[in-house]
Amino acid sequence: MTGSFITLEGGDGAGKTTQAALLTDWLEAHGRTVVRTREPGGTDLGQRIREIVLHERGHVAPRAEALLYAADRAQHVETVVRPALARGEVVLQDRYVDSSVAYQGVARDLGAEQIRSVSDWAADGLVPDLTVLLDLDVTVGRARVSAARGDTFDRLESEAAVFHERVRRAFLDMAAAEPARFLVVDAAADPDVVQQRIREAVAPLVGIAEEDPS
Ligand code: TYD
Repeated sequence: MTGSFITLEGGDGAGKTTQAALLTDWLEAHGRTVVRTREPGGTDLGQRIREIVLHERGHVAPRAEALLYAADRAQHVETVVRPALARGEVVLQDRYVDSSVAYQGVARDLGAEQIRSVSDWAADGLVPDLTVLLDLDVTVGRARVSAARGDTFDRLESEAAVFHERVRRAFLDMAAAEPARFLVVDAAADPDVVQQRIREAVAPLVGIAEEDPS
């Protein structure tokens, strides 16, 4: 039995962590085993890569940045994600290949197709069964991050608003191009409403009866 691979995407402050926690509770209440993980930083090696990509003080060349995310992904997919899927578990992951395409490919201008191909190679072709895009106005997302953490932004978060606008647009374009894989949810809505929409999409994937989404 193969498990289900669900990824959460969206800009900073869109509520991915909150939604992942709520979804995990619901899946576990229905007897599913959930591996909740993230990129970058879902492995020991990835933690060290995360520290570099998010907090390196000196210049990081955009191509080096792209390859660091790809290295993190390769380690994570081989040692965490695929084994969990092989055990029949649900992998619920914060960010994946689509983040690389949006941030490095589009916002950093490295080329969406090239970054997707590097990322797919790193992941050895593993594609999510479902990708939930939490879509949110960039200014609102930024205000949420500030409210939660104060004005301590990491290297990517510190990029100008126009960078984050490009990220948002890129995610929406990817969702439009692959409607069967993506669920786009308005992340400005009440968190419970957002969660309900996600559960409705996840239920058939993991074999939970649709009339029981609470
Ligand atoms: P995230 O863990 O969501 O940040 P936080 O824990 O602070 O909410 O993601 C870290 C940052 O890395 C985020 O700004 C997006 C960026 N990122 C990329 O640029 N490319 C990628 O491939 C991934 C996975 C993340």
